[in-house]
Amino acid sequence: MSTKKSLPKHVAIIMDGNGRWAKLRGKKRYEGHIQGVESVRRVVRAAADTGVEYLTLYAFSTENWGRPAEEVEALMTLFCSCVINETPELIEQGVKVTIIGRRSRFSQEVNERLDEIERRTAEGKVLNLILALDYSSRTEITEAVRGIAVKVAEGSLLPEQISEQLIDQHLYTAGIPDPDLVIRTSGECRLSNFLLWQASYAEFYFPQTLWPDFTEQDFRDALEVYASRDRRYGIV
Ligand code: FPP
Repeated sequence: MSTKKSLPKHVAIIMDGNGRWAKLRGKKRYEGHIQGVESVRRVVRAAADTGVEYLTLYAFSTENWGRPAEEVEALMTLFCSCVINETPELIEQGVKVTIIGRRSRFSQEVNERLDEIERRTAEGKVLNLILALDYSSRTEITEAVRGIAVKVAEGSLLPEQISEQLIDQHLYTAGIPDPDLVIRTSGECRLSNFLLWQASYAEFYFPQTLWPDFTEQDFRDALEVYASRDRRYGIV
């Protein structure tokens, strides 16, 4: 049995190529991130228009803390300004924002902004926008295993009760369906510690386009490619 699905319910995107986009223009790397916000706006609009229900964006990986301080600082400032500038439009569009990842290393200001965008968009019904920030899939799985181990040690869970569903429920993405389509821009073809468990049966699409150049049409093209794929889930 195989299934052709015309529209992915959940699209996850690794927004790659901001630094190269800036370098090609003789600009600072962070200017690529600023330009990348335009692509975020376009893709959120396109996802809402096409009926995609969940859109996850990999905005800051745990590994990204290792970038030069100037770039990390610029990204933190950008996240805060995005909350201030974009929230009214997101509310109007019916977008509900959820943050996944570790929050403990962000400053109090960043955390307050992230809480604010989640609180103010909580009633959104059109699109679930999930922002992966200080996200590492291996850390997520490690924390889930630790949480389960604590319950077993306390005696509130038996080892034989550990199932795939139970593991799902202990991930940051509990309650969010697995991604059907994972897009990584800029021609790189790897997952880089993103949704390793959740993307087990996802389709992958790797356009050459650098993230700041990614248009609404590029997003629609990705949906077309997805619609032409034959998903088999290991069955003939
Ligand atoms: C990867 O490109 C991109 C990032 C690490 C940051 C992505 C962040 C944004 C687009 C900012 C806005 C996001 C939201 C959700 C408000 P890269 O710098 O690794 O590019 P390179 O591989 O060309 O160096």
